[in-house]
Amino acid sequence: MKILVCGGAGFIGSTFVRRRLTQTADELVVLDKLTYAGNRANLSDIEGDPSLSIRYGFVHGDIADPTVIRKLVVNADVDAVVNFAAESHVDRSILDAEAFLRTGVVGVHILLEATRTLAAARSASGRRPPRFVQVSTDEVYGSVPVGSSVETDVLAPASPYSAAKAAGELLVQSYRATYGLDTLITRGSNTYGPFQYPEKVVPLFITNALQNLALPLYGDGLQRRDWLHVDDHADAIGVVLDRGEPGGVYNIPGTGERANVDLTRAILAQLDCPWSLVRTVEDRAGHDRRYAMDGSRLAAIGWSHRVAFEGGLADTIAWYRANEEWWRPLLNADWTAYYDRQYRKRLAESVPRG
Ligand code: NAD
Ligand code: DAU
Repeated sequence: MKILVCGGAGFIGSTFVRRRLTQTADELVVLDKLTYAGNRANLSDIEGDPSLSIRYGFVHGDIADPTVIRKLVVNADVDAVVNFAAESHVDRSILDAEAFLRTGVVGVHILLEATRTLAAARSASGRRPPRFVQVSTDEVYGSVPVGSSVETDVLAPASPYSAAKAAGELLVQSYRATYGLDTLITRGSNTYGPFQYPEKVVPLFITNALQNLALPLYGDGLQRRDWLHVDDHADAIGVVLDRGEPGGVYNIPGTGERANVDLTRAILAQLDCPWSLVRTVEDRAGHDRRYAMDGSRLAAIGWSHRVAFEGGLADTIAWYRANEEWWRPLLNADWTAYYDRQYRKRLAESVPRG
């Protein structure tokens, strides 16, 4: 297959590219805007390996740019578009949602339009239509106090981030219903692993602890997330691309539902750092208490987890310890400006977590 991977320089996208190139004979082109979260260094091992780079290309561009997208989808005659591109951090969406909507709604629309044009051209010549995979999130369900979400549940997003992701999904569904596009949607759980930008809680708490900085735990710390290793997430998206039913929506659950306070305890214990680093800070606005998903639909097409949470977390911590030259340069002036905006007042008013 020839696949356009949008947002392939980010955390999950780059893992998908690495694993797909290794596991298949596919040709992959990455399109990435290289926002603060996109990082060419995430792909440097691939670019430096001739056995992989021969089937790989990189284009710096925006999914909301119709000229670039037309070239990469229609002219390139791809077999599939896999869209990871998004603004992905909930806290930033609370500070300013504009970019979330531009990429998550306008950008998705431009990708869908190009895919529709290609599908029409292929159908005219009797060829298989291109597949369109939209990488989405469990956050579209909103908070789930008990039980687990199934794919037919009502969407109830609570943050500007998850609202933009839900809007993107609805557009995808509309192109399925109206134009018969071969679409797929994945809803992944909270993902952790190597190459994750340090704003997210797992890498933030690891890199802060390694620097002897405070760990800002929001509110009572009893919010629950179900942790999914990035290799499992990337492989599940591959299974959906290869075997998903046209029009299908697939949950990708994790293997480690935990309260944030217990996740924090596990990180500090493995790093042998003191609990006194943990500060209770003002909660995130609209903070969802819990996410949990049922994964039987994905299991039915042959996917199961490979990475257990305890081992996955230990490996991730070891990776951040060993790859300081990857994360240190990310703590630049832009990072400091964001960190001050998000945490300065919170930390000034914080109390130690007992
Ligand atoms: P990330 O922020 O690490 O990567 C996003 C990538 O998209 C970056 O490389 C960025 O430069 C690129 N990008 C952003 N806007 C773009 C645009 N307009 N055009 C082209 N490229 C653009 O995010 P991630 O954690 O790897 O998440 C990838 C996808 O998976 C997102 O759609 C996210 O909503 C979804 N998701 C993430 C998680 C998680 O826990 N991280 C869980 C479920 C779903
Ligand atoms: O559930 C899937 C989602 O997981 C993805 O769609 C998002 O792209 C991804 O960012 C992630 O969203 P979360 O908001 O759950 O992840 P985050 O790492 O920001 O926060 C995880 C939990 O930790 C959440 O309950 C908030 C809490 N937290 C987070 C940060 C950054 C803190 O207590 N302190 C913090 O400083």
